[in-house]
Amino acid sequence: MKDYIKHNEWKVIEEGFDPELNRISESIFSIGNGKMGQRANFEEKYSGDSLQGSYIAAIYYPDKTKVGWWKNGYPEYFAKVINSTNWIGINITIEGEELDLAKATVLSFRRELDMQKGLLSRHFIARLKSGKQVEVQSKRFLSIDDPEIGAVRYSVKAMNFSGEVNVTPYLDGDVINEDSNYGEKFWEEIEKTISGDEGYLTIETLKTKFHLCTGMKFNVSKTGSGQVKKINNSVKEKYIEGSVNCNVKQGEEIRVEKIVALVSSLNYNTGKLKSQAKKAIARASSMGFDKLLNRHQKKWAKKWETSDIRIEGDLAAQQGIRFNIFQLNQTYTGDDDRLNIGPKGFTGEKYGGVTYWDTESFCLPFYLSTAPQGVSKNFLLYRYKHLQKAIENAQKLGFKDGAALYPMVTVNGEECHNEWEITFEEIHRNGAIAYAVWNYINYTGDIGYLAPYGFEVLLGISRFWSQRVNWSEEKQSFVILGVTGPNEYENNVNNNFHTNNIAIWSLKYMLEVIDYMKEEHPYLYDELVKKWKFKEIEETGRWKEIIEKIYFPYDEARQLYLQQDGFLDKELIPASELAENEKPIYQYWSWDRILRSCYIKQADVLQSLFWFENSHSQEMLKRHFDFYEPLTVHESSLSACIHSILAAKIGYYEKAYEFYLRTARLDLDDYNNDSKDGLHITSMGGTWMAIVMGFGGLRVSNERLVFNPFLPDKWDSYSFRVDYKGAHLEVKMEGNKFIIKNRSEKDTPLIIWGAEMTAKANDELVVGNVKL
Ligand code: BGC
Repeated sequence: MKDYIKHNEWKVIEEGFDPELNRISESIFSIGNGKMGQRANFEEKYSGDSLQGSYIAAIYYPDKTKVGWWKNGYPEYFAKVINSTNWIGINITIEGEELDLAKATVLSFRRELDMQKGLLSRHFIARLKSGKQVEVQSKRFLSIDDPEIGAVRYSVKAMNFSGEVNVTPYLDGDVINEDSNYGEKFWEEIEKTISGDEGYLTIETLKTKFHLCTGMKFNVSKTGSGQVKKINNSVKEKYIEGSVNCNVKQGEEIRVEKIVALVSSLNYNTGKLKSQAKKAIARASSMGFDKLLNRHQKKWAKKWETSDIRIEGDLAAQQGIRFNIFQLNQTYTGDDDRLNIGPKGFTGEKYGGVTYWDTESFCLPFYLSTAPQGVSKNFLLYRYKHLQKAIENAQKLGFKDGAALYPMVTVNGEECHNEWEITFEEIHRNGAIAYAVWNYINYTGDIGYLAPYGFEVLLGISRFWSQRVNWSEEKQSFVILGVTGPNEYENNVNNNFHTNNIAIWSLKYMLEVIDYMKEEHPYLYDELVKKWKFKEIEETGRWKEIIEKIYFPYDEARQLYLQQDGFLDKELIPASELAENEKPIYQYWSWDRILRSCYIKQADVLQSLFWFENSHSQEMLKRHFDFYEPLTVHESSLSACIHSILAAKIGYYEKAYEFYLRTARLDLDDYNNDSKDGLHITSMGGTWMAIVMGFGGLRVSNERLVFNPFLPDKWDSYSFRVDYKGAHLEVKMEGNKFIIKNRSEKDTPLIIWGAEMTAKANDELVVGNVKL
């Protein structure tokens, strides 16, 4: 764990420059606008250790798979959302000497991310080898108001010298991905032009043929008397620049403003890209940095209005949760159903920037409660649009008749991960996608989504489960063999409780959906039956039989669902007995040892119990929590949040808080020693869930919001915002009082600590709990 980020309500601050921490900071201070993102790399040259990262959503490269032994069914490639044109670059030389913090003495340094405004700034004073000192200030943002635009403001002050300073704003498409499997570069040049202060560079990805045109327009000025000299343009392969010399006197400052537009063939015809980039540059540069920033800030203010969480009495926690919310909001804005959330968002290369079950399971609740309905709907439509690919994906594995297996990892609907134990076996993700349909409808009431989108997706998924089970003569039950559950520290197990449970739940839900379709959309239903060659009686007959005769591993003596067949054969030694220097076990133990151990990577049985808590008594939930949690090593960032929520549900308030702490500052304090690879964006949704669903106890049941809040001892109060069916509520837990401000025109029925009440439009409701 590191502790170098200064605590502050709205800002993330690093003071002093430590090259060892640079990669971590580059991740932490990343900026994004839902369409693209940028690590906190320096504008000026930096020859020290750095991971350059500038990512455009959904622009990916299918990197040829690298495996030992090829197995039929493996995907051909691993998709990567790739590093693209460096748009921030501004090189500086002073009397011919390059400004490079790896070679200079850094006298002071401050990096600051203002989360309220979505603005990254840097200030430093550096002494070059020659003894010349400069003071540099930079600010930059990626506009969420105009998502094709980025802007940089950069200044250099001559502190102890007079002489010639050169500033060179540039665009560089000659970039690499560190995780390239074969050391290849992924981009080729298409076109470049530069004339004076304006230039355009178009590059194309190999294989996928995405075009990206980046335009820049810059302005260089100086304080004091005298002018900057004329711009010298030069170009090289995938690179354009405008170089400007200025004679400065001691104390004078050179200022650069660089406005950038990034447009891609995702949104425009390739033939029109440059003209679109020109339009964007004209639009943005006519406004200038300040006006663009002003609009950007206003949009951020709106986002915070619906998504902020306030914590009083704990500054570190306050900063932590805002950081998580900020990152979620800058990763996904939800207005394009082709986009999704990668586990690292736009902050690093790991996981390839592509979609996992994380989105449905850990991110959806955040967007349901804090963003307009269409934002969450787009997550679902993303999967709907990939249905055909999911059917083909299942076909490759031998399934038929419209069975759909959604990929574990994808960017365009095709599976692009090739560890057999994940690709072939982690099939519970299909259940997560079905559950998300239910979750969305349960929250929003948009049951019409089922006709036809939800219906079609659920049909494909149901058909998959129907073919994936097999009848066991020995058990006289249906079983699901050879799977990996959410606990990836066990592979190829039989009857993983969570997988069997989510399979059965999906089938039951589908039966309800069919009833609804027949009742409410009979004509459409008939069409869909024809389209999908749905043999209703035969297929639903089998589903019902599976539901009735599915096998769950269960231990009568302990009254416990077992994680999988044979789980009790393991040596059950609590994780607390693991030696400190062997943790995390995935770094210190052989894979063989991990697989044979009882240790659970992340919530598995408990993931199911969290989703289906209403089917179980408190005692049953407690019994399972008490058994499984001590065996869990929480080595996935997605683990602690589920444990926190369940702990809160069963009244283990201190534990709920402990687990929350593990998630809240995971990246800010680099808990797992891996923030340098990028941030744990999807787990940030889990952190939000831990406060809102854990501490606040928020659920939606029978078209009502339900709260069962408690206040962690260490906090004075916390408050969060919830959008629900057009009502906007701000709720606060303080002492033993729960205060609901309804900031909308809609009366909203609620259940608080079991009692039914209404939050009247534009009114405040205060509820006390004598038991707390
Ligand atoms: C977790 C998976 C998750 C993936 C991406 C893995 O470590 O075990 O559940 O989908 O990371 O976040």
